[in-house]
Amino acid sequence: MQVIKSYLSHLECAECDCSVDADTRANLCPECNSSLLARYDLSQLGNYLQPSDWKDRSPDLWRYAEILPIRDPMNRITLGEGGTSIYEIPTYADQIGLHHLWIKDEGLNPTGTFKARGAAVGVARALELGEKTLAMPTAGNAGSAWAAYCARAGLELHVVMPDDTPVVNMREVSACGAKLHLVDGLISDAGTIVGAACSEFGWYEVSTLKEPYRVEGKKTMGFEIAEQFDWQLPDVILYPTGGGVGMIGLWKAFDELEQLGWINGHRPKLIAVQAKGCAPVVSSIELGVEGCEAIIDASTVSSGLRVPKPFADRLLLRIIRSTEGNAIAVSDEDTIEMTKLVASTEGVFVAPEAGAMFAALPKLMSDRQISPDDKVVLLSTGNALKYTDLFKTSNLSILDKDGRIRID
Ligand SMILES: Cc1ncc(COP(=O)(O)O)c(C=O)c1O
Ligand SMILES: [Zn+2]
Repeated sequence: MQVIKSYLSHLECAECDCSVDADTRANLCPECNSSLLARYDLSQLGNYLQPSDWKDRSPDLWRYAEILPIRDPMNRITLGEGGTSIYEIPTYADQIGLHHLWIKDEGLNPTGTFKARGAAVGVARALELGEKTLAMPTAGNAGSAWAAYCARAGLELHVVMPDDTPVVNMREVSACGAKLHLVDGLISDAGTIVGAACSEFGWYEVSTLKEPYRVEGKKTMGFEIAEQFDWQLPDVILYPTGGGVGMIGLWKAFDELEQLGWINGHRPKLIAVQAKGCAPVVSSIELGVEGCEAIIDASTVSSGLRVPKPFADRLLLRIIRSTEGNAIAVSDEDTIEMTKLVASTEGVFVAPEAGAMFAALPKLMSDRQISPDDKVVLLSTGNALKYTDLFKTSNLSILDKDGRIRID
């Protein structure tokens, strides 16, 4: 069997010109404390890899192993993540006057969200580098995914999450054997606790964008979109943005594909969708500033969007602007209503983070930020089954044992 090698070369700071050895534990840039990004020897890889080489491999994300950071194939742990479907949602598109609207269904991933991608690669790299105990703050779904992959890899994990996180996340984390810590606060408070514990106990801190490899897993969504669109990228991609890792991943994937010469310079506009109760990126785009102010008392039912200040805020804002994209906030009420509408018209029942994009689309259309002929992709990051408490039962009748209606 052919062994596929990783072309990982080094780590590079997202904000300064510092570069760092990729084969030792790495968290932040030693010069300026910003995120580190993995870099690959793409010019060498481009000499022999063709787009068609990826076609015949297994559908999980390890098919992109050349541009992923795991050197030893034995460390590429998998639960079958990636290779998610992309399909049109024509009834809803018609209702809002769009001609081409797709959903990329990340709810099909292990643990029900796109967080599985970041966890697969992040945990695999931690295993490869000899780490034994990891720790992370989470809004919920990342904790579930990392717990599953750590169980698979035999690594210890400490997860710190707000005590009002959906209960399914708590159950998943515990069932998968991670140590769960609940905090009476936000994900930012959880992050401070994790940072202190990692310094004290020497655990590997795997907070969002404070280690370089989670984003490598997330970027595979960009490779898949390019393949699914036959290397002609769509015009617009909407992304429900909390910490923004997925959006940074998409941008990085497209950048790497362009360096390989597989796509042209046409980039989709990247549009960040946030909740009105926690929209730091939207505020910064509106104000035209380079970083985000932390939102005090951040609040939304879309728990994955409840990130008061993205750690890599400057990079995220640069990316949105460089694609001539934008950021938009929607209310929780509109999110729930539109999520139900799309479930009942299309059979597509998504997590509220993803449902927020359905609420954002009509406004983006009426503001002419999206035109009817644009090819638009919604990155549907999770499955609604994680959030059933948000949706009341309707269309219900209660029957007695003989089938007679008691309540309608
Ligand atoms: C379902 C879902 N969508 C979107 C997000 C936001 O992801 P990111 O941090 O990449 O912006 C999260 C984060 O927890 C999530 O769980
Ligand atoms: Zn730096």
